[in-house]
Amino acid sequence: MAIFPQLRLRRLRRAESLRALVQENRVDIGDLVYPMFVVEGRGIKQEITSMPGIFHFSPEQLPPEVEEIARLKIPAVLLFGIPEHKDEVGSAAYHPEGVIPQAIRAIKLAVPELLVVTDVCLCEYTSHGHCGVVANGYVDNDQTLPLLARTALSHVEAGADIVAPSDMMDGRVKAIRENLDEKGYQHIPILSYAAKYASAFYGPFREAAESAPQFGDRRSYQMDPPNVREALREVEQDINEGADIIMVKPALAYLDVIRQVRDTFNYPLAAYNVSGEYAMVKAAAQRGWLDERQVVLEILTAIKRAGADIILTYHAKEVSRWLQAT
Ligand code: PBG
Repeated sequence: MAIFPQLRLRRLRRAESLRALVQENRVDIGDLVYPMFVVEGRGIKQEITSMPGIFHFSPEQLPPEVEEIARLKIPAVLLFGIPEHKDEVGSAAYHPEGVIPQAIRAIKLAVPELLVVTDVCLCEYTSHGHCGVVANGYVDNDQTLPLLARTALSHVEAGADIVAPSDMMDGRVKAIRENLDEKGYQHIPILSYAAKYASAFYGPFREAAESAPQFGDRRSYQMDPPNVREALREVEQDINEGADIIMVKPALAYLDVIRQVRDTFNYPLAAYNVSGEYAMVKAAAQRGWLDERQVVLEILTAIKRAGADIILTYHAKEVSRWLQAT
């Protein structure tokens, strides 16, 4: 066994080229998904205050943006919709001419090869802001399932490539899978937000998606942050119901969860680098307190090192520019 002075771990760190040769994990543009917010209406392109560089777009404003995304070699976008009208049961979420179907059609006309993933949830569409139907002050699991299944179908009928349920109801993957299969969409994969925690890191997103709950919080359906064994059960449940890709969310404070899921299941694994993680970096960078480029690449590399195959990140466009410039 070599020991110092024969063994010197610094030998392989002497030069950039040597370090690159032995680098164990790499951020690849091909693994990134760029989340986008689409608002019902026309002529809207407005920056989100708490997420500098991220905009609300009305559907007809999307083509130039997605053309740029494709030029940057980002393979996929994740769409969130903000409807004009909200109601108790989130009807706008499953309207065939709703904001997401409109957005999908606009994107597919402009850039057919760009993968379109859609977030399937009711919270942006309900007047109370919860992810499901509320009955007696409680988010009712089973009444919500058919509505989620209808929502996913409306996206797929408009051309979505992957549907991504983020509501955390039990049985939603099964309900969505059965409905898609019945309608002839056996080939459409489900990316499930399998282990999604009730996290304060979603703060800026709720402003962006106008989806903050009007009473209570999401802790009766999203996971409790101290738990990791339960995350494995959540993932197992979604796999059993037919999920093709599983996700852990948020990413940065949950790297251990990503690692354990990676070690336990042989499924493609995604991690969501959420709005609060993005906003923290942006805020510090704007003040000159952090080197943004270095910090973002370090964060994304850490998420890969923890075991994620796919990263959903608002930094995708800038990362692509940085990596192509070097
Ligand atoms: C909604 C949803 C949320 C996010 C993705 N889908 C918010 C929530 O559950 O409150 C968070 C994304 C982010 O913070 O970037 N179902």
